[in-house]
This record gives sequence, structure tokens and C-alpha cells, in this order.
Amino acid sequence: MLLNTVLHTIRDDRMESEQELMRIGVSLPDNLLTRFDEILTKRGYSSRSEGIRDAIRSYIRYYEWASEVTGERLGVISLTYNHEQHGLIDALADIQHQHLDVIQSSMHFHADEKTCLELIALHGDAKSLKEVAEGLMALKGVEHLKLTTISTIK
Ligand code: NI
Repeated sequence: MLLNTVLHTIRDDRMESEQELMRIGVSLPDNLLTRFDEILTKRGYSSRSEGIRDAIRSYIRYYEWASEVTGERLGVISLTYNHEQHGLIDALADIQHQHLDVIQSSMHFHADEKTCLELIALHGDAKSLKEVAEGLMALKGVEHLKLTTISTIK
């Protein structure tokens, strides 16, 4: 899986170098751009365009990787959310009760006065694992969510 991803990258870069650059206009919230620029400065990027190209490549790689994940998998969903968001705790519980077939266990950790961290352990078909992750991600008040999966095939 990792090797596949690396090969993809090399091929993508070769394809890109043969193409002309397109100009696009993007509207972004001020704080998002400030945070992005701070990271670019720390990482020593020479231009914002270069940083945006890299960010888009990472996004594409992640999405392609996520759609390549198939079959029986072990998984962990980690998410943070604001527990003061109206109705969120009930909605989170509802989704988890609807997927008892794949959810094995969960752990809740109160990170600060507002933020909760939840870890959910799953086992089942990759499609169901992604369905749970996407369902949780769509809820208003969920701040960060990450699904990590491991193949059960030795
Ligand atoms: Ni909590």
C-alpha cells in the first residue's frame, strides 16, 4: 500500500511537469490563510503557490489512499468535538448505536472545559468503517476526525 502511494507520487510529478500552470482565484477565511502562511514560513516555502500545490497533492493522495482501502480491516477513529454543541452528544451516540456490528469499543477523554476526545475501535469491512467515519465527520461541532485502518491479512 505504501509502495503504491510512492509510485503514484512519482508518476503524478512527471505528468505535472509536462503541463502548463493554470491560474485560479480562491476565497479563504482570513484566519485559515494566516495559519497556512505560518506553516509555509516555518517549512521554508518560497511562495504561497508552491505551498498550495503541495497541499492539494497531499489532499489528493490522502483521498486516493482512502478509496483504495478495501476488505476486512481493523480501524481507529479519533475525533475531537465541542460537547457544548447542541444535540451533538446524542447524535454521536445514535451513529455509534447504529453500527454495533463494527464498533468494538470506545474511549472518551475530557480534554478541556469544552473539548472532548473520543477514540473508537472498529473491526469490519472497510466500507462500513468509512461510513461510520463519514457519518461522524458530517456532524456540526466535530472539529477533527481521523480514521486509521490496518489490514487483517498477514
Ligand atoms: Ni468529554
